[in-house]
Amino acid sequence: MPNPLENRQIALGVTGSIACFKSVDLASKLTQQRALVDVIMTRGALKFLTPLTFSSITHRDVVTDIFAPSSELSMDHVALAQRADVVLIAPATANAIAKLAHGLADDALTTTVLATTAPVIVAPAMDAHMFDNPATQENVRKLESRGIVVAGPAEGRLASGLTGKGRMLEPAELIAHLRMVLGRHGDLEGRKVVVSAGGTQEPIDPVRVITNRSSGKMGFAVAEAARDRGATALVVSAPTALPDPVGVHVVHVETALQMRDAVVHACADADALVMAAAVADWRPVSQATSKVKKGASESWSVELTKNPDILAAINHERLVKVGFAAESEELLANARSKLIGKGLDLIAANDITASDGGFASDDNRVLLLDKAGAVEELPLMSKYEVGNRILDRVVALLTR
Ligand code: CTP
Repeated sequence: MPNPLENRQIALGVTGSIACFKSVDLASKLTQQRALVDVIMTRGALKFLTPLTFSSITHRDVVTDIFAPSSELSMDHVALAQRADVVLIAPATANAIAKLAHGLADDALTTTVLATTAPVIVAPAMDAHMFDNPATQENVRKLESRGIVVAGPAEGRLASGLTGKGRMLEPAELIAHLRMVLGRHGDLEGRKVVVSAGGTQEPIDPVRVITNRSSGKMGFAVAEAARDRGATALVVSAPTALPDPVGVHVVHVETALQMRDAVVHACADADALVMAAAVADWRPVSQATSKVKKGASESWSVELTKNPDILAAINHERLVKVGFAAESEELLANARSKLIGKGLDLIAANDITASDGGFASDDNRVLLLDKAGAVEELPLMSKYEVGNRILDRVVALLTR
């Protein structure tokens, strides 16, 4: 699975909001990811920025006027509408949203949206009262009812000084929307993939927990990769420092028992389960209801009892089961015995003593072991890419 944005034609509509400064960064990030970005600026956007701002980044003509004779693109906005794989309007003002809701075509951007058959994403940016206004709300609902994806807005401090809902999403979130929309008809379309992530926390008392070093990055990356291939992705996540991924349903849990219940529930209608979570093997037998004081004693023993093995307990016939094995010794032998013991289709084994992958890293180096005994040794790669390699195998198993 190559970079999902590579060589994709993105028509980026920029309208007249101060948030258009963030779109410069967005255009830059998209271009760095080798997308082909055609920027269309409205008259309002031209009050804030010039076409040169974007063309210097995208190295492509910027469209500002349907009637301007100078540019190859502006001659034929229909060609631009047709060649776009996706149209993203970021920022979208209340006025732009109103025009789209009513099907107006009085400038290059609105004309492109009317003329395209590509998916359209709209990222609103405006003052909170303008967004909350019933007129805008009705327009937003109209766009959604036509299949347009409305991304955001987020809550936060607004240019007006007010705090509320109206901030344009950040470039990384908009890129996630683009990946999701571009991957809608991928090889996991119509499939549900459940992923667990993070390290469970087992409370000792109201202030102390037993946990581990899992960052949740691996599980989130698998879920994002599944989303970008058209799956309905659901993450059961133990506490992490990560924001919820865009377009992924996240069920937040803390303990292994909560994770088991959520995973069992989510798997009832799932096609695949990828257990990337580091589930605590043990939990305190009892949990103190108030903070345990240090007192005069020099030691403290906490009695532990075994947690259930979630992967081993789930046995739906159709469900593809993938596990992880983080090992510090005997990598292959330990991974193989987990693969068999837990009835898995595939296990991703990684050596946690290696310096280049591991818990907090964005990269990972894994071996993939399957039921037939085959071992695939993958080089160091991003966790997203590892996720895709695992999903390649999941797709093959699902289409057997
Ligand atoms: N796992 C699980 N439920 C548990 C423990 C682990 O579902 N109670 C899953 C993990 O999410 C992972 C796989 O089983 O996908 C292997 O987890 P790991 O911690 O490596 O193995 P354990 O079975 O806990 O064995 P050990 O601690 O002895 O290495």
